[in-house]
Amino acid sequence: KEVQATLLEAPGLGDAPAIDVDGIRFDLDEPVFPAALEARCFTSDGFPYEKRLPSDDYEATLHALQVELVKLQRHMTGTGARLVALYEGRDAAGKGGAIETTRAYLNPRNARIVALPKPTDAERGQWYFQRYAVQLPSAGEFVLFDRSWYNRAGVERVMGFCTEAQAEAFLKAATEFEDMLVDDGIVLVKFFLEIGREMQLKRFHERRHDPLKIWKLSPIDFKAMSRFDDYTAARDRMLETTHSAKMPWTVIRANDKRRARLEAIRHVLGRFDYPGKDPAAIGVPDKKIIGSGPDFLK
Ligand code: ADP
Ligand code: AMP
Ligand code: MLT
Repeated sequence: KEVQATLLEAPGLGDAPAIDVDGIRFDLDEPVFPAALEARCFTSDGFPYEKRLPSDDYEATLHALQVELVKLQRHMTGTGARLVALYEGRDAAGKGGAIETTRAYLNPRNARIVALPKPTDAERGQWYFQRYAVQLPSAGEFVLFDRSWYNRAGVERVMGFCTEAQAEAFLKAATEFEDMLVDDGIVLVKFFLEIGREMQLKRFHERRHDPLKIWKLSPIDFKAMSRFDDYTAARDRMLETTHSAKMPWTVIRANDKRRARLEAIRHVLGRFDYPGKDPAAIGVPDKKIIGSGPDFLK
């Protein structure tokens, strides 16, 4: 990709602080991403591959999985099944992309993306789960949450938008809330997308210098650059307290967006039986990339 000569204008975004990563200086505004970080990017956080999945493999597998999703949707509308898939993960982990590829060929009438903005004053005065509860699926619907009620365990906790006591109370309440959803028959899939520190910086850098991606960058991301470890602690606490056989967390190593997207779709399909299900098209999960619960990342 060509390097932009001048920095893109970004009204309201503010300036990102330069940070130090193990002695390497990183300034988001510099047009070239530091080579020393680039070298560590793909395998950061112990990612088990050196290269992306080749694009022809990716395209062919994605197509086959999307065909299966269409069959699943027909089954869901026929039976009235309800599905919630929520996508959590670090900033720039690729939640949006995983959601888009899952939803791409589904009827938008019953496959809906929910990406709520920060709570309004009125919402702050309500029961914490209220604005999420109204978004839950009706019969036959598939709702994909781009971030979810788990904001309170992640960004709100790390950035101080709630108190520690509120975050801890939330973790207990989340289990009770989800218990009710599952008891009512909703199929609940909870994804956590994990990326390494260098990969996160690389993606922030891409956003800063790409006119099509700059809208994804926020002042919250600037702060996240120096709070990677705080997010790790919040993540571990969340996975430890809200993972159970009934409401499991599915964890995906997402440094390779392609592999991550395929695994996420494969996992959703694996939760259902539907007419015409083609096991060969679905394939088998890559256990190096996808796992269950807090132990997977240890
Ligand atoms: P995203 O990464 O989802 O594109 P941001 O990085 O700007 O968006 O924000 C991360 C999350 O933090 C969003 O879900 C946003 O609603 C939430 N958030 C931002 N500010 C606040 C706040 N003051 N109180 C609660 N949540 C907030
Ligand atoms: P279950 O959710 O375990 O009741 O499984 C529902 C159906 O999906 C069964 O036919 C399972 O064999 C199948 N299945 C479960 N997990 C997977 C998976 N990861 N990939 C493909 N199929 C799966
Ligand atoms: C992602 O890329 O994970 C989300 O869609 C956006 C973000 O994290 O800022």
